[in-house]
Amino acid sequence: MEHGWSGTDRFVVRSCGPLSGTVRAGGAKNSALKLMAACLLAEGRHVLVDVPRITDVDIMADVLRATGATVDRLPARPGSPEPGDLVIDVPRDLHPEAPYELVERMRASVVVLGPLLARCGRARVSMPGGDDFGHRPIDMHLSGLGAMGVEFDTVHGYVEGTVVGGGPLVGAHVVLEYPSHTVTDNLLMAAALSKGTTVIDNAAREPEVLDLADALRSMGAVVRGAGTSRIEVEGAAELHPARHRVVADRVVAATFLAAAGMAGGEVVVSDARVEHMEMLVRKLRDMGLQVEHGPDGLRATHTGRIRSVDVSTLPYPGVATDYKPFLVTMLSVAEGVGIVTENLFSGRFRYVDELRRMGADIRTEGHHAVVRGVERLSGAPVRATDLRAGAALVLAGLAAEGETVVADAHHVDRGYDDFAGKLRALGADVQRV
Ligand code: EPU
Repeated sequence: MEHGWSGTDRFVVRSCGPLSGTVRAGGAKNSALKLMAACLLAEGRHVLVDVPRITDVDIMADVLRATGATVDRLPARPGSPEPGDLVIDVPRDLHPEAPYELVERMRASVVVLGPLLARCGRARVSMPGGDDFGHRPIDMHLSGLGAMGVEFDTVHGYVEGTVVGGGPLVGAHVVLEYPSHTVTDNLLMAAALSKGTTVIDNAAREPEVLDLADALRSMGAVVRGAGTSRIEVEGAAELHPARHRVVADRVVAATFLAAAGMAGGEVVVSDARVEHMEMLVRKLRDMGLQVEHGPDGLRATHTGRIRSVDVSTLPYPGVATDYKPFLVTMLSVAEGVGIVTENLFSGRFRYVDELRRMGADIRTEGHHAVVRGVERLSGAPVRATDLRAGAALVLAGLAAEGETVVADAHHVDRGYDDFAGKLRALGADVQRV
């Protein structure tokens, strides 16, 4: 559980020799959180396999508990590298509310809005806060659900939604202004338990959306086109619980591949799904890494200096904004100059100040960063500004002279299960203090 910064949570990183070994990415945070919310759509016992042991999952478990569900982690199977299954029991009657104390700690809690409205006909969700980057409104969630028959009001910091006429949600044709990942998830879940057919146009195409659609199908929903920009859902009057395995985390996988770039050596991510990371793999190869996919997983090998490339973030299948801090960190020690453009979140360059403290030569201007590679970074005390930035600073420490101390490590715990331990297993010198 995250309890805010205690002042003691930090990573201590020292540069190390080349990395070598195999690591698991584990189930994807951004799928697991939505799959947990989807459980609210059906009464009974749900089982989720390979849900990572991370703080955001703990928070979502508390969100579900606040509605009346019980959430338990089974012990890991002996000899299995996977965490124990997550068992979620959903009662018939739910309390359709996501309280401020939880939503404030995790913006993604807003994904219970669709399932709660579909199950209960009304819902009350605190207005989200979340990661410290950019302006992240929820207008598209509200207008999409509005088209399905929900009326919203904002009262005392809460969004209160009621299905007009007291009946079920009704299928609608929703065209998203932007292919938002979480909005697509919310609408997909709401549509699964509704009357009629919903079409989501300009839908997000992330592999995690596909994973959610697969889970909804095993719960009895009819979903077509997930993974493309037009998703069609035939609503069901009732859904049933199911057992579902979470898709592997492509961002965690990318983090370990980037670690091979920073420290050199060879890293295999055993469960990485290369088909979900094509654009990233292409970038890494352009940067001089050797990346191959084989029966044992996705392997990155690197010696010598990284080559600079330009990077522009885009919705999937473009280069994900979540990869950007790792790419910027790699560019900071690359040969040449790279121009990085952020197209999704306005404030997602804050960690650049921290990299500069380590000797990186980076200039930012609005949505752009110009990164001039230096020979070597220099270890320094820095601060994690968000989850991916925190992980990136640890990677920077792998290639920095001396010691790097990354404070506010709790940000990293939101999305990485034993990050330091997994890096140590690859030969890195990283301690969680
Ligand atoms: N947006 C709106 N209105 C809305 C919703 C979003 O304007 O109602 C805007 C946002 O302000 C932003 C853009 O749309 O500019 C993209 O937002 P999107 O909704 O796609 O992002 P998200 O669903 O909030 C998910 C991941 C993020 C990841 C992004 C982009 C989850 C829980 N989060 O966020 O992951 O960066 O997609 O792929 O799925 C992370 O894991 O650290 C993380 C932040």
